[in-house]
Amino acid sequence: PIIHATDRDGTEKVIEAETGLSMMLNLRDNGGLDIASICGGSCSCATCHVYVDEDWLGKLDPQSPDEFELVEFTEHYRENSRLSCQIEMTDALDGIRVTLAPEE
Ligand code: FES
Repeated sequence: PIIHATDRDGTEKVIEAETGLSMMLNLRDNGGLDIASICGGSCSCATCHVYVDEDWLGKLDPQSPDEFELVEFTEHYRENSRLSCQIEMTDALDGIRVTLAPEE
């Protein structure tokens, strides 16, 4: 599946993602995006914060209470905020558009 990711400087990257891995790992390792992922993807650092294009939000599994609790208190929280380490890439997400949130 393809991820269209807009980096913090506004450049758009088209990333060939691997299924079965999180979006965070795909953005970082396959897309070269600068995601610190301090917690290693265990939903406790929020450095993998992305904004998901509105058209795609409904296609994601609902976020867990843990994810919501963490992301809603970030400085740059928006209604379409998600932590990309908590999104597993599947073929159903082919074409998804996300934008990296500013660093906290
Ligand atoms: Fe830390 Fe996602 S990588 S919360």
